[in-house]
Amino acid sequence: MTTPPTLAPATDNAAAGDGTVLQADGVTMRFGGLTAVRGVDLTVNTGEIVGLIGPNGAGKTTFFNCLTGLYVPTEGTVSYRGTRLSRKPHLVTQAGIARTFQNIRLFANMTVLENVLVGRHTRTKEGLWSALLRGPGFKKAERGSEERAMELLEFTGLAHKRDHLARNLPYGEQRKLEIARALASEPGLLLLDEPTAGMNPQETRATQDLVLAIRAQGTAVLVIEHDMRFIFNLCDRVAVLVQGQKLVEGTADVVQADERVIAAYLGTPVDDTPTAADPDTPATGAAAAESAESGDTP
Ligand SMILES: Nc1ncnc2c1ncn2[C@@H]1O[C@H](COP(=O)(O)OP(=O)(O)OP(=O)(O)O)[C@@H](O)[C@H]1O
Ligand SMILES: [Mg+2]
Repeated sequence: MTTPPTLAPATDNAAAGDGTVLQADGVTMRFGGLTAVRGVDLTVNTGEIVGLIGPNGAGKTTFFNCLTGLYVPTEGTVSYRGTRLSRKPHLVTQAGIARTFQNIRLFANMTVLENVLVGRHTRTKEGLWSALLRGPGFKKAERGSEERAMELLEFTGLAHKRDHLARNLPYGEQRKLEIARALASEPGLLLLDEPTAGMNPQETRATQDLVLAIRAQGTAVLVIEHDMRFIFNLCDRVAVLVQGQKLVEGTADVVQADERVIAAYLGTPVDDTPTAADPDTPATGAAAAESAESGDTP
């Protein structure tokens, strides 16, 4: 049993105001002849946990990459708190959106604490290179940041591992460390790409509590997950992507009752499935599944 963690918001970025945090309008991403994401609209409001689900290769990670500036969408716009986002990932982070990756991207040979300190570079004037090269400016900023980094490690249950190298952590803890590092930029919106992949049931439940605690301290969450229990337990709203298009969006009840969602997961064609006559889309899920991980690679 885990104690629900608590954490005070560090800046106005989290917990600021009401209304829309993220607004994506008509986001389309084409790779040559393949349309991985097609005309997706999605809104996340303050205080919400929104789920993004769909079969392998549906375009979920690609959509995240479009939101965070890793990909420049072929069409469409993305705004954060009413301001159109830059196409540069570090400026997106600075604006207030942080993310974790489907394929964990930690600095393997840095300690747990150092990884979180690197995550704070957008909130210190020293910047990323100084953080990575550990120059004198960084060392000074580091002392100021360390207290907050330790709070985040307490929050994610990793404080006792502060001096361990990231690469020596078990998989579940590496995922938690990615979350701690993302939170270090003090985001108003956190994007999680399969946060419980590879976790055991206890770790998954702890991650559920962690996401609720993140929301409670004022950060909205958009989460991709294949674990449906996790999604339906946690999310205020769930959007279903199928072959790049949003098929359904609604509460857990609405999504679970929609037979097109089940059909999409089973790979059964349904009249309303948006792709039946789409020449841009692969005929089977196999090609998509094969290269699905590539969405993480800029
Ligand atoms: N950089 C890229 N170049 C070409 N095709 C890409 C690229 N990134 C993703 N794709 C393709 O876009 C489609 C969507 O992939 P994506 O990784 O977004 O799916 P996903 O929904 O995240 O799947 P999974 O649940 O398996 O992670 C796939 O067909 C994938 O091969
Ligand atoms: Mg993915």
